[in-house]
Amino acid sequence: MDGTPADDAAESGAAETGADPSDEGARDHEAPEAAPYGIVVAVARDGVIGRDDDLPWHHPEDLKHFKRTTLGHALVMGRKTWESFGAKPLPRRRHLIVSRSVGADADAVLPEGAERDGARWFGSVDAAVAWWRAHPVGGSAARPGANGANDASHAEAERLFVIGGGQIFAQVLDESGPLPDPLVITWVPAVGRQDGDVLFPVDRDWIEKRYTTAATRPGEDEGLEFVEYRLIPR
Ligand SMILES: NC(=O)c1ccc[n+]([C@@H]2O[C@H](COP(=O)([O-])OP(=O)(O)OC[C@H]3O[C@@H](n4cnc5c(N)ncnc54)[C@H](OP(=O)(O)O)[C@@H]3O)[C@@H](O)[C@H]2O)c1
Repeated sequence: MDGTPADDAAESGAAETGADPSDEGARDHEAPEAAPYGIVVAVARDGVIGRDDDLPWHHPEDLKHFKRTTLGHALVMGRKTWESFGAKPLPRRRHLIVSRSVGADADAVLPEGAERDGARWFGSVDAAVAWWRAHPVGGSAARPGANGANDASHAEAERLFVIGGGQIFAQVLDESGPLPDPLVITWVPAVGRQDGDVLFPVDRDWIEKRYTTAATRPGEDEGLEFVEYRLIPR
């Protein structure tokens, strides 16, 4: 992930659309309880999200969208994603980094919740989420997406977004646990699976059986599509 901190946060609203009432699969699916966080990700139409510890594309419009979506909120990410944007915090967002080098045992480099390089460090996603719940800022720790992912009320309550990478997405999209809500996904043109080394763990079909499309708009750049999905309640 490169360039995000320097990008302008141009404000523009997503076009609201209703959920597709004809989606029988979605209606019938028994969705598990929602997790207290959402996801923000750019996914190529062939499922690729990363290559050589970086994004396999450069879409400035998506970087602006990422900034607009996440500004004022807290971000959970794997150690490799943190390093992919220079191991420096993005402005005005709390950073919660997950690494196996963190924990209570004697081999751990850092204790749970330690602060280093402007970020907090945790030995698991669950530990990061528990810390976030215990340390609210800007009012109560509201569920992400409670006012819509593009809502401008960032100052009122910080939301929590998992932003990658592949290993972390695989853990939070595991159906044996609560699923993230919302999914803020930018669909980008396919890059070729043979050229990507990190894939998003689920495909669009999987998503659209468990989530409704709450908002969608095409990008100005060719082939970009910005979609917000909301978990279908039981
Ligand atoms: N397209 C997008 O929107 C997007 C978003 C984010 C990232 N990416 C791309 O994805 C790639 C990085 O993804 P990745 O899958 O290689 O790495 P990652 O998920 O960002 O980070 C992996 C690291 O997280 C830690 N980790 C993972 N599972 C853990 C667990 N259960 N407990 C404790 N720590 C755990 C480990 O850190 P330690 O090794 O320190 O133990 C592991 O090496 C890059 O190419 C990046 O550009 C794309």
